[in-house]
Amino acid sequence: MNVIKIFSPATVANVSCGFDVLGFCLDTIGDEMLIRKTKEKGIRITKIEGYDLPFEAEKNVAGVSALALIEVAKPDCGFEIEIYKKIKPGSGIGSSSASAAGSVWAINELLGKPFSKAQITNFAMKGEALASGCEHADNIAPAIFGGITLVKSCAPLKVLEIPTPSALYATIIHPEIEIKTAEARAILPKQVDLQNAITQWANVGSLVHAMHTNDYDLIRESLHDVIVEPYRSQLIPYFNEVKTESIKSGALGAGISGSGPSIFALSKGKAAAEAVAHAMKKVYSQTDIQFNVYVSKINMEGIRVIKCN
Ligand code: HSE
Repeated sequence: MNVIKIFSPATVANVSCGFDVLGFCLDTIGDEMLIRKTKEKGIRITKIEGYDLPFEAEKNVAGVSALALIEVAKPDCGFEIEIYKKIKPGSGIGSSSASAAGSVWAINELLGKPFSKAQITNFAMKGEALASGCEHADNIAPAIFGGITLVKSCAPLKVLEIPTPSALYATIIHPEIEIKTAEARAILPKQVDLQNAITQWANVGSLVHAMHTNDYDLIRESLHDVIVEPYRSQLIPYFNEVKTESIKSGALGAGISGSGPSIFALSKGKAAAEAVAHAMKKVYSQTDIQFNVYVSKINMEGIRVIKCN
């Protein structure tokens, strides 16, 4: 195999209570990337469509993760990367992770899969760090493993694959304002209140239990974030209205997707997720903020091959 074209999906990190540890993979939105083996060694980014991003490999998240991989693999060839960017940078649905994970996932395929998913995640984290200022894997892990993941630890990396109840659907609204992850992290407190911490880890534990037991009522009771959301929600216009209307229209829960500004909701069944989409649209339609809405099943596969030869 010399050329591979892949779909690298958008992801939702944090899932309300699981800041920096929980994430899930989306199906209906993602980037496409084409990676080609070259005789000349090294990594070259030869095409970027969709958004204005750096071509220098050292300054591009897809390039940085690919450089981390070839430093270890030492292949006797190089790679050209074409990026067809559909996920807007700074949208809160794992734009940088899709690029960072996509390049290394595809190169691993072209090399005959010498690395495990966990090793690929480690390389991709180097690219993610360029975008967000620190290495975290809560978007990268679901993009690579698919489904719902929990990053038990980053060093050493340990990713747990959490079962996904089959009727679980996500609704995402992306208001067209930009929030930089590094800035959304900078506003968070360095210390948290013990009572809030107790509430939060009870919610993470019960959310994971609910996923294992297909307990949609327990998902509803657990999708709460008392630590991060109170700070970051102030950066997102009409966040409280979108969350309230989503839940009123049948969502199990709603919260900030990653570091925002996108807002996600989880629902039982596609019809419910579409009713939530309608409710979310209605809120932003009454403002002058442009937006996009997506309804997606949880993507169990993660990054996938579109074609190869
Ligand atoms: N867990 C990260 C955050 C995800 O919320 O800052 C965004 O990259």
